[in-house]
Amino acid sequence: MPDVAPAPPHVFNASMGARLEVLYASPQVVAQRRRFRELVAARPGESGVDVGCGVGHLTCELAVDVGADGRMTGIDASADMLEGAAARARAQGLSGRITLRRADATALDLPATSADFVVAVQTYSYVADVEAAIAQAARALKPGGRLAVLETDWDLCVYGSPDTARMRRIFDGRWRFAHSHLPRQLDRMFRDAGLAPAHAEAFPLLETRYDPASFGAGMLAIGRNAAVRHGVDRAEADAWVAEVVARGERGDWFFCLNRFLHVATR
Ligand SMILES: C[S@@+](CC[C@H](N)C(=O)[O-])C[C@H]1O[C@@H](n2cnc3c(N)ncnc32)[C@H](O)[C@@H]1O
Repeated sequence: MPDVAPAPPHVFNASMGARLEVLYASPQVVAQRRRFRELVAARPGESGVDVGCGVGHLTCELAVDVGADGRMTGIDASADMLEGAAARARAQGLSGRITLRRADATALDLPATSADFVVAVQTYSYVADVEAAIAQAARALKPGGRLAVLETDWDLCVYGSPDTARMRRIFDGRWRFAHSHLPRQLDRMFRDAGLAPAHAEAFPLLETRYDPASFGAGMLAIGRNAAVRHGVDRAEADAWVAEVVARGERGDWFFCLNRFLHVATR
């Protein structure tokens, strides 16, 4: 069962695209993508699919990895996100090796056994029927192909706020995810889809100095908005954000979020 109501499609609009442009350029997320790409190990000439490609950071990087003879397909449910991805591909001169398509993760409409790898980064947590999405990805893979998934366990997201009870009120179940703890279930879901789990590791995004351009600082506004949307008192959420920022500005910042990178093969 989903933890909370799934994200309404309008969440991934142009203004969220602009936020993601900033968040995903932060050093923490750049390092996360570097490690994820090492695990995907895309080779020249391969054909890859990025499910929930967003504004295309990873799609473009993998398009570089597969080279001029390879292909990337970026799929997303949001037209605004796909527009951002198309702009990024154009700016990097990669449009010729990237196909972008609007589709749901549960209905990829890709030819069976056509992809060397499929990736899904922070996408499946928004998909209510995540088993169907994984089955679609598995179907698209060639024998021996890799599915690489990056997800977050939102219980493992903490700020250095002394008011732990208030932080938990804001975070618990307030995020707009269909699944807030997906990493705990991924290997089982892979096996159910006929895939063999091959590797799993944690990747912490850790910050001990306040930087308004950091991932943790950027997530404050997104978390605050999600909390208010899910019923947390606006004044309480604003007071908590103000307290965390004030502590950061005084040199007392701590943020840690655990990401999990899972790879399975067909
Ligand atoms: C947090 S963003 C991550 C974007 C990208 N994977 C990255 O890491 O740069 C989640 C993306 O998943 C897409 N998404 C959410 N639910 C989806 C679904 N059911 N089918 C396809 N895409 C979906 C959103 O539109 C959004 O672009």
